[in-house]
Amino acid sequence: MDKARIAVLVSGGGTNLQALIDAQAGGRLRSGELVLVLSNNPEAYALTRASQAGIETLTLTKKGCGSQEAFEDAVLAALDARRIDLIVLAGFMSILSARFVSHYVNRIINVHPALIPSFCGKGFYGLKVHEAALAYGVKVTGATVHYVNEIPDGGRIILQKAVDVLPGDTPEILQRRVMEQAEWVLLPEAAELVSSEILKEREYRQ
Ligand code: GAR
Repeated sequence: MDKARIAVLVSGGGTNLQALIDAQAGGRLRSGELVLVLSNNPEAYALTRASQAGIETLTLTKKGCGSQEAFEDAVLAALDARRIDLIVLAGFMSILSARFVSHYVNRIINVHPALIPSFCGKGFYGLKVHEAALAYGVKVTGATVHYVNEIPDGGRIILQKAVDVLPGDTPEILQRRVMEQAEWVLLPEAAELVSSEILKEREYRQ
């Protein structure tokens, strides 16, 4: 069967990438195929996870390319060369420009570790999101998968799931609970949903 070709962009540990790999192995990601894992951090453990799963890896850095613009051009060229249909940002810690995003309208999705529009936008990433949620004293947080547009964390919401904040939570404990109960569930579901939409659109056009 024809599948949507997926590139996963990562920067760190890659537990969300692992959830996608597991979903593919378990048949929950059927309409899409993980064909490339691209990191902007050569040290990212996500690269090891990808290699272990037999997925092609590529590292490109802003420093190595000389500028954000040159970095984005190199990423676009790598995606074009592999005929990528869908880009999944899974812990990718670089904000993509409006120019980049315009090449993949409704074809980039991101997982964010909070219930957007809370604790999102510039400066809210990784553990900082959970630190902010605990400092505010919210009793419920969660995760969101959304389309990526030119506004950081501003694109249309695809899936969202709430997670309780419990007494005694540290940012690390809360981060882990949000990952386990929400991110690792939602991201593969959303990747399947958008991949199946891509296939339907393709069929319609033929
Ligand atoms: C995840 O919690 C992800 O939602 C978050 O970074 C972590 C990456 O973990 N992303 C952002 O904050 C983006 N704004 P992982 O590398 O283990 O998937």
